Amino acid sequence: MNSFKPKNRILMGPGPSNVHPRVLEALSRAPLGHLDPQFIELMDEIKSLLQYTFRTKSNAAFVLSGPGSLGMEACLVNLVEPGSEVVVCIGGYFANRMAQIVEKIGGVPVMVKDTWGRAFDPQKLEDTLNEHPGAKTVAFVHAETSTGALQNIKELSSIAHRYGCMVVADTVTSLGTTEVSVDEWELDAVYSCSQKGLACVAGMAPVVFSDRAQEFIKNRNKIGSWFNDLNLLMGYWSGEKRAYHHTAPSNQFYGLHEALILLKDEGLDNAWRRHKENSVKLIKKLNELGLKPLVPDGERIPNLITVLVPEGIDEAKVRAELLARHSCEIGAGLGELAGKVWRIGLMGYNSNEKMIDFFIGALKDVLKK
Ligand SMILES: Cc1ncc(COP(=O)(O)O)c(C=O)c1O
Repeated sequence: MNSFKPKNRILMGPGPSNVHPRVLEALSRAPLGHLDPQFIELMDEIKSLLQYTFRTKSNAAFVLSGPGSLGMEACLVNLVEPGSEVVVCIGGYFANRMAQIVEKIGGVPVMVKDTWGRAFDPQKLEDTLNEHPGAKTVAFVHAETSTGALQNIKELSSIAHRYGCMVVADTVTSLGTTEVSVDEWELDAVYSCSQKGLACVAGMAPVVFSDRAQEFIKNRNKIGSWFNDLNLLMGYWSGEKRAYHHTAPSNQFYGLHEALILLKDEGLDNAWRRHKENSVKLIKKLNELGLKPLVPDGERIPNLITVLVPEGIDEAKVRAELLARHSCEIGAGLGELAGKVWRIGLMGYNSNEKMIDFFIGALKDVLKK
């Protein structure tokens, strides 16, 4: 066997996306031990960069060694006690996954469903909380990657708090590309991923827990997970003396650190603006090709556009041809949107005009064929 050398791909699906050369270089530096003083310094810098990115002062802002789904499970297992009701706002595939996790960890999911491809209706959440006065937690996905819809997270969170609930928010597809203000919006447990708006490789899940959540977790009944128990994780991520928790992947952390520096140097406001402007440009060019977005204007995730597949077109064949002829990957529809949409990602390092022009050229070529 020979060394594995992948062909370069233009990753324009729902994630992962391409990474900056500086991130790739950082990933290849010499590994460090997980308690090396240099490594602890790096962890502290990652914490402070995450505080900036999530717009929070919480000391419990750190990264879990695993994908976004690990962040989802960690937030839920820490906040949800067995037998407690969790209202899950479901308008797509990933919110469904939240409900599945709630069930697996012994919570009682109360599923409120809304139309796939639209922002979740806050009134539905309010009505459900009125019907379930015992609910302790509300969970939702900020940017539902399966549909392309962005929720009004500020409003959902404020309703949840009015009913005395804590809030779990999925920011896997929004962090770094659109506003996520953890403290201002009073989010209690928030997770994301490394491979989308942060423009790093997959396998790390940034998380934040509010002070209120930390207080609850310290005093609650036993947590049904060793790896995800916040009380144990904090022994590694904070304080003068750090205790071994697990062997953290040092090289992945170097990559994330570099990616977060790149984002901070650009500035969050500038990064959000860039994603918005490029999304508008891409949609305009897709419209010129006769393609229509699924999600109405004002409710769209700027970095992940779902486009309706025109009648008579074999959607899988288009994706296969884009990959074969242009080395470009886009995503298929998930769940009830399978076969009906393409999911086009324009995120992080890839959100620029060169990518838009490349993609429109490639798509024109394939559709013509
Ligand atoms: C909104 C959302 N939540 C959770 C996940 C799961 O993340 P991962 O695949 O990194 O486990 C994804 C993945 O794309 C996602 O889009």
